[in-house]
Amino acid sequence: MHKDFFKMAKMAKDRGIRVMIISNGSAFSQSVIRQLCETEVAYVSISIDSYDEKTFADSRIEGKLGKIWQGIRSLRDYRDSNGFSFPKIAIKGTLFENTKDQLPGIVDEAQENGVEIFESFQPLNPMLNYIQIYPKEKLGELNKIEVIQQKIDQDSQYANEKLKSFKEFCNEENIELYPATNINHLAKNCNETWIYSLLSGDITPCCQVKLSPSPNWNIFENNIDKILMDPEYENMRFNLWNGIFPKYCAGCWKTR
Ligand SMILES: C[S@@+](CC[C@H](N)C(=O)[O-])C[C@H]1O[C@@H](n2cnc3c(N)ncnc32)[C@H](O)[C@@H]1O
Repeated sequence: MHKDFFKMAKMAKDRGIRVMIISNGSAFSQSVIRQLCETEVAYVSISIDSYDEKTFADSRIEGKLGKIWQGIRSLRDYRDSNGFSFPKIAIKGTLFENTKDQLPGIVDEAQENGVEIFESFQPLNPMLNYIQIYPKEKLGELNKIEVIQQKIDQDSQYANEKLKSFKEFCNEENIELYPATNINHLAKNCNETWIYSLLSGDITPCCQVKLSPSPNWNIFENNIDKILMDPEYENMRFNLWNGIFPKYCAGCWKTR
């Protein structure tokens, strides 16, 4: 949706950076497909939250599942018949009480439509900053998260046998997705080493934090190295690593 997405992807590519994206898959026009291949976006993960047209349409507000599968097939066809190796195509998604048994079915259909990689599925996110924006009628789902997570764990084994696992893909491509950090054996902690930028340019430590913890961490105003060396930034990382969690982490599984 970002009008300069392909410009940014090319800038990254020219610097030897691999680009990986998550998409709802609803806008795979021929032109988008061609540019995804030409800019060598390494990986496109498409959210498929149900194999049932109606359930999908309900959760995606007029989402058309048939169109998403068609887009995936077109991407795969164009890539393969024009000699491109990328993007590799993955699925991910969120399951609810009414869809918790659908993972194997989604995987089967995904494979038939040309998907190659299984990324991961998740239950609804119980973080405080998310709960605040959920519709009231969805809040009951939060009591079912553990059961849904168990079912996802079980069915993910099937998924990883049928499709290539995300880890395998990263290993093959030499993408160091989870850089080795020293694991803290003493406390529940968070060893995320990522840097996330919001559209505003504000930096957050995790994609699930939607407000920057500091006004000084904006990549349009400050050099990224300067932000990373800000003592406040280092302090935040130190605290996360030691399990001293700020309010915005409340509800995250890493804190529980
Ligand atoms: C980074 S997000 C969304 C990325 C992309 N824009 C999309 O719509 O799929 C990753 C996951 O969040 C889930 N998701 C997206 N919208 C959601 C919503 N309104 N409620 C719950 N989960 C949602 C999807 O399953 C998706 O795979």
